[in-house]
Amino acid sequence: MTTLPLPAHTTLNSLAASHFTIIGATGAVGRELLSILAHRNVPASNIRALASARSAGESLPYANTTLQITETNATAFSPREPARCPAFTIFAADAETSRTFVPLALARGGTVIDNSSAFRLAPEVPLIVPEVNAHELRAGPRLIANPNCCVAILTAALEPLRAVWGITALDVVTYQAVSGAGAPAIDELLTQTRDALSGIPPRPHVFREPCAFNLFSHNSAVDASTGLNDEERKIIDETRKIWNASELAITPTCIRVPVVRAHTLAITVTLRDPASESDLRRALSAAPGLTLIDDRATNTFPTPLKAANRDEVLVGRLRAAPAEPSPHRARRFCLLACGDQLRKGAALNAIQIADLITRNHV
Ligand code: A2P
Repeated sequence: MTTLPLPAHTTLNSLAASHFTIIGATGAVGRELLSILAHRNVPASNIRALASARSAGESLPYANTTLQITETNATAFSPREPARCPAFTIFAADAETSRTFVPLALARGGTVIDNSSAFRLAPEVPLIVPEVNAHELRAGPRLIANPNCCVAILTAALEPLRAVWGITALDVVTYQAVSGAGAPAIDELLTQTRDALSGIPPRPHVFREPCAFNLFSHNSAVDASTGLNDEERKIIDETRKIWNASELAITPTCIRVPVVRAHTLAITVTLRDPASESDLRRALSAAPGLTLIDDRATNTFPTPLKAANRDEVLVGRLRAAPAEPSPHRARRFCLLACGDQLRKGAALNAIQIADLITRNHV
């Protein structure tokens, strides 16, 4: 459990009276959800931890107690007694599990927050990054989609620039931690690292390529005609949806790197209106959920290790693109953003959504 302070834009205890059903509680994102809920003082009696039949009957640590894991099946979504409001079901398993069980969770009542890609592009389902489009929650949606991890980090990092100067184009290269591929991928990196140091050849299992002491093009499927992999497609489609900018030019390249947690994004952004480096630096430092780390004198900038286990997205290495006329009047800028993809890229974003709904509810 993190001991770091929550960012100023979140409120402790606003969730303590809510009830949560977590689907995929044993996974990398599920465990992170439990850690955040424990930190927010949600009592164990308000939480149901669900996973696959493989984990049913096992238990998970939660605050100073344990949670019994039950199987995700139709019985788990039988109607509950009313008045247990607000109630949230958060899906942190795969898209297939969401497609099967989200309708049952909606029928059961309460609000459903889906971390999978199953409903993200459905026009009637809001895709929410609280720092960007929290206003879409005012309509009271019952199903809300949580974006792809890189998209949450990217849009949160760039929102302060987009809000003031507008964005007309975006190039982004991602350096993605293995934990984005789930808990087994973390084991694979640790095992392969130990094996490599002992001279044992890598035995790839989760990834096709060895992940220790290596990097490779993102492991999601590559479209034969466009050459984009699924992760790159998500960055384009989901960013456009969140910013309501269906024509925005986005050029992503997604890479998997031997980092346990926290993704790094190298971004080149083209603004609609010219700005100065110092204007942008001021906007980034004032933005909720961001921390600016940008010291040229000591070469100190965001890193995934600094971002791991933190709620804030770290931004820095800000500079006008070399071809720009001057750092005082430029449209193209480069910067780095590092975010913990299990937190801002997944679990924290979902809890922030629940938090906003709860505060509107009471
Ligand atoms: P289990 O641990 O029982 O397999 P990760 O992304 O870290 O790999 O985690 C995936 C999560 O999704 C785990 O909690 C896993 O549970 C859960 N899960 C996988 N398949 C199903 C399923 N068919 N129904 C419910 N949960 C599932």
